[in-house]
Amino acid sequence: MISDEVIQKIKDENDIVDIISETVKLKKAGRNYVGLCPFHHEKTPSFSVSQEKQIYKCFGCGEAGNVITFLMKTRKLTFLDSLKLLGDRVNISIDTQDDKSPARERYDKMYLLNVEAAKFFRSNLLENNTAMAYFLNRGITKKLIANFGLGYAPDSWNSLLKHLKGKGYTELDLLNAGLIIKSPKGTCYDRFRNRVTFPVFDYRGKVIGFGGRVMDDTKPKYLNSPETALFKKGINLYGMNFTIKNLTDDYIIIVEGYMDCIALHQYGITNAVASLGTALTINQAKLIKRYVDKVIIAYDADLAGQAATLRGLDILKQAGLDVRVLTVPEGKDPDEFIRNNGKDAFVNLLAKSLPLIDYRISKVREGVDMKNSDNLIHYVEKVIQILTDLDPVEQDVYIKKISEETNIKDQAIYDMLKTKMQSGERKAEDSNDSPALRQKLYMEPAYLKAERTLLKLMLEEPYALEHAEKHIFKEDFVVESHRLLYEKILEMKESDSESRKKAIELKLTDPDSVSEWVNILEYETVYDKDNTDSFVDDCIKEIKKYKLEESKKEIMLKIKRFEAEGRFQESMELAKEFIKIQKKGGMR
Ligand code: UTP
Ligand code: MN
Repeated sequence: MISDEVIQKIKDENDIVDIISETVKLKKAGRNYVGLCPFHHEKTPSFSVSQEKQIYKCFGCGEAGNVITFLMKTRKLTFLDSLKLLGDRVNISIDTQDDKSPARERYDKMYLLNVEAAKFFRSNLLENNTAMAYFLNRGITKKLIANFGLGYAPDSWNSLLKHLKGKGYTELDLLNAGLIIKSPKGTCYDRFRNRVTFPVFDYRGKVIGFGGRVMDDTKPKYLNSPETALFKKGINLYGMNFTIKNLTDDYIIIVEGYMDCIALHQYGITNAVASLGTALTINQAKLIKRYVDKVIIAYDADLAGQAATLRGLDILKQAGLDVRVLTVPEGKDPDEFIRNNGKDAFVNLLAKSLPLIDYRISKVREGVDMKNSDNLIHYVEKVIQILTDLDPVEQDVYIKKISEETNIKDQAIYDMLKTKMQSGERKAEDSNDSPALRQKLYMEPAYLKAERTLLKLMLEEPYALEHAEKHIFKEDFVVESHRLLYEKILEMKESDSESRKKAIELKLTDPDSVSEWVNILEYETVYDKDNTDSFVDDCIKEIKKYKLEESKKEIMLKIKRFEAEGRFQESMELAKEFIKIQKKGGMR
């Protein structure tokens, strides 16, 4: 158990605005900060962060919490891991030796196993001339080979298997780590055979998996570790651990492959990371956003133009990154380009990279004959499609550009854009996903309102606390987290209102309860101060009414069933019970 003091200290020293700013662009608005909610998709900000209260709350989706739950939710961490991470930032260590969960132990073991495998591959590379020659022929220096931990998996069905078994690991360990494969007949064999290997590190520099390349033209060219507990595609970027070690630039370059990343690092461009042939995800975008605000994509030309790539780039943009696109000429990839043309030539390409919008426009411009009016109209329509997602200032800038380029009056382009955007809005309203509908779904039912109000009153009015303790029980609450909060409030009833609030929050370790807690603290309750008593009573009645209604519904169903089955005696009994309940509910 970690003491309340330590938790409080960690919370005090990690300002919620700092932490949330790492992933969400926040703007000061009055006393609070606002931004786009990271918990639901939205275009206008309804996510609010209070520095004063150290809480966040979204008025769109109802999500709320504190600095700890923010990390739990956005990074899928446990309470403890979130606390540990925050502790690390401010040099407060929490002793968690007793808390070593079986899952944690499995992770640790898998990390060690991967390190052993990497060492094994590396020592094999040093002994195998062909494999070493492969890397050297591709221009990778011995230094880089060592830095990136490159290796070689021998041409054998079980050399790694044997080696690691000798170190005390089981077949199951190796299967879990994706290092071996089990045949349908049940025999196990090494996944990587006769391939040069690339350990994949996570951003902290721990080996989480491997890639292996053939040394000739055999297919598949690369094999990768399968998804394992450690190796999760889409949350990591190859080379990130090296990049962040001495990041001085204010941007990161994303390339496609292992070889591109290594080549750029070798030439001193150490802010390059590789997406390893998969489409970019929001988690990767967030990882980058923790370090820089800008990315340059350097894929080979045909890949960069593909729809899946463009979607990936939009994800980067949505995460608040300024996205530029670099096109490597002559269908080369960055590895080939920099080896043929040198560092300066590549730095030149970086300088010539286009903002994402310009790049997308340049893509639709390809093959358009500006003298052909059909072509021209089609081109402008496509550009307008691209502009609909932009803010008005950006739209203005691009409309001017396009107007100059095509000789179409800017007013005409404006009108087209306006029509397009209005029809787009109408479509959004029609679909289930419209903000209006989401708002409706989020309307509180009466019992929810009553439960929140009652809990809030219990925190603030001694009378309410006393009355609630006598007249309502934990089990009466419909919302699970409210039962917990009710209990905690009663436990802390001796202390004064403010310290009670602090103490209760420290006891809550699951994001749902914290979310409800913040919602309740922020709850606007309007009532007549002179009439607190009857207001409290009304809340209690409303909560019990819900239970009553539910049990009435249940009895009605049973009565119907008994009647249908001809069990009239039983149905009569139930009808009597129903009337009793009805009367009880009617008493006010
Ligand atoms: P590329 O084919 O562009 O690879 O695929 P590359 O890095 O330039 O490889 P070299 O220069 O031929 O050695 C880009 C990335 O896509 C993934 C790998 O991560 C590769 O680095 N890939 C590619 C695979 O996973 N499997 C494949 O069969 C091919
Ligand atoms: Mn290549």
